[in-house]
Amino acid sequence: MPIIHASELNQKKIQELIHTTIKSGGLCVFPTETVYGIGADATQDEAVKKIFIAKGRPSDNPLIVHLSSKKDLTQCVREIPEIAYPLMDEFWPGPLTLVFKKSPSISPLVTGGLDTVGIRIPSSILAQQVIQAAGVPLCAPSANISGKPSATLFSHVLDDFKDRVDLLIDGGKVTIGLESTVLDLTTPIPTLLRPGAITQKMIEDVLKVSILDATKDYIEGIPKSPGMKYKHYAPSGELSLVKGDFNQVIQYLTDAIVKNENIGIIAPKEYIDKLKGKHLLSMGSILDPNEIGSNLFSALRTMDQQHIQTIYIPVLDDQDLGQAIMNRLLKAASYRIIDLSEAR
Ligand code: TXA
Ligand code: MG
Repeated sequence: MPIIHASELNQKKIQELIHTTIKSGGLCVFPTETVYGIGADATQDEAVKKIFIAKGRPSDNPLIVHLSSKKDLTQCVREIPEIAYPLMDEFWPGPLTLVFKKSPSISPLVTGGLDTVGIRIPSSILAQQVIQAAGVPLCAPSANISGKPSATLFSHVLDDFKDRVDLLIDGGKVTIGLESTVLDLTTPIPTLLRPGAITQKMIEDVLKVSILDATKDYIEGIPKSPGMKYKHYAPSGELSLVKGDFNQVIQYLTDAIVKNENIGIIAPKEYIDKLKGKHLLSMGSILDPNEIGSNLFSALRTMDQQHIQTIYIPVLDDQDLGQAIMNRLLKAASYRIIDLSEAR
């Protein structure tokens, strides 16, 4: 199982290795700007099946198809609605997945039997090199065992997939750390299926119309995207989110540490600075949501490595990138919230 470092990627021989691996139906883990992906040739059913097996992923949860250029889009989709063009112009390459009606050339295995397909062109140069070298549309879910936090460091990928894939590309820490925004363009009004670094507001500013937000549909219990109904990002310990004003949350967490010094706390630096305990983990400054987003999954994995049974994270602002951050936190916590404002 060769491991390739990012600095070697522009070598012809490495590109040939990627091509051979993917063409022969193998799996290749590679970094993108969002999270690491585990890629296979989207045109080979046997290769696609291997991804589901390696991840332990339910077969009805569709994979995103990754392209290196817009010109390859027509071979994957049946039609491109007008509304797609300004979005592609503004946000591709980048962390936005657009859902189109699929062309017959895309296997139903890739789309979990759906008539639609999610497509994305990553902005990461490394990811583009890998897709180009592969020479085929690359289906690539996040490179984590199903249900675990996505991989944002190469060590996460090794933890989950060492000896279980054919090729691994080490690109260090990814930049964004949260998976791409998923936007369905097959509905009468574009529908947000997963918030990400391309925020709802950024999309609405480009389209000059409001879009639908289906990311909270778990409350009604009807998932619009198959991925919504599965357990996600969950650490092994029990994670609860703590909601309240800053001082209330600090008081609650201080009391919790007194009761049990083995609890873990993941929080912005400003909270961590006010606490004393054994397992405190800062995600970065509350003033820098990008930093918080990029450290979130890693923090959840660290708690697992330290076998922490009880974890607390403060509820954070859910505007702009905060929408994606809170979406992941709520899922990781299975929507468990300790609401201190109610207790007053
Ligand atoms: O940033 C990303 O998107 C990363 C990197 C590797 O590109 N990939 C990723 O893939 O996060 P995955 O498989 O972990 O998440 C794909 C999400 C799932 O929630 C899935 O249900 C949804 O996108 N999805 C994919 N195709 C869809 C479709 N045709 N209709 C509705 N939802 C779809
Ligand atoms: Mg995933």
